[in-house]
Amino acid sequence: MITLNVNGKKRPVDAAPDTPLLWILRDNLGFTSVKYTCGISECGMCTVLIDGEARRSCIVY
Ligand code: FES
Repeated sequence: MITLNVNGKKRPVDAAPDTPLLWILRDNLGFTSVKYTCGISECGMCTVLIDGEARRSCIVY
């Protein structure tokens, strides 16, 4: 179990360590506004801010 701080709220997450952040946000936490398109860090549709830095969540583990 890990805890993520998403939009200022702490959220416990139970996910395998090799689960991309994109799927944790969508499937575990219900943030469907984070979109999956290419899955290989090319399109930018899954971009989120992590500590103020834009990151492609499909390749963040
Ligand atoms: S889904 Fe395309 S960059 Fe992540």
